[in-house]
Amino acid sequence: MRGLVFLLLVAAASAKVYQRCELATILNDAGMDGYRGTTLADWICLIKWESNYNSSAISGNFDGSTDYGLFQLNSRWWCDDGKTPLSRNGCHVNCTVLLTDNIRPAIVCAKRVVRDYTWLRSWSGWRNYCMGRDLSSYIAGCKL
Ligand SMILES: *[C@@H]1O[C@H](CO)[C@@H](O)[C@H](O)[C@H]1NC(C)=O
Ligand SMILES: *[C@@H]1O[C@H](CO)[C@@H](O)[C@H](O)[C@H]1NC(C)=O
Repeated sequence: MRGLVFLLLVAAASAKVYQRCELATILNDAGMDGYRGTTLADWICLIKWESNYNSSAISGNFDGSTDYGLFQLNSRWWCDDGKTPLSRNGCHVNCTVLLTDNIRPAIVCAKRVVRDYTWLRSWSGWRNYCMGRDLSSYIAGCKL
């Protein structure tokens, strides 16, 4: 019984759908606002459209790779899931690490994408729904 309770607690802690302002606070504390010219609103909008704030979001791509977590980081370029051919694993991380409510590794990896690759432009959610728009509503009402 104790083992079962422990397992349930682990499961409860491992996946999370964030509240918008809760996430804004975490990302702000992690130095995302102003990181390489990005804004906090860019990040909240990006996450909204990539994962709908769900840290355990997983989606498959046509090329056989998979996108993981809040930022939908891709297994061909950024993490290793053991089943994507020719993975570059640019963030040197197991993809499953990007799916938990400890979002530090995902934040570090997302910053690397911005720094080393195509800034925010590699995220289709950002390109299609955030780029060039008024994003103030994404952080409206948040106490930062
Ligand atoms: C979060 O994503 C997981 C994995 O795709 C899914 O099973 C779960 O239903 C999602 N949660 C919500 C609230 O959408
Ligand atoms: C990633 O971690 C999971 C869970 O710990 C493990 O089962 C899997 O083998 C790991 N994958 C790789 C590619 O290291």
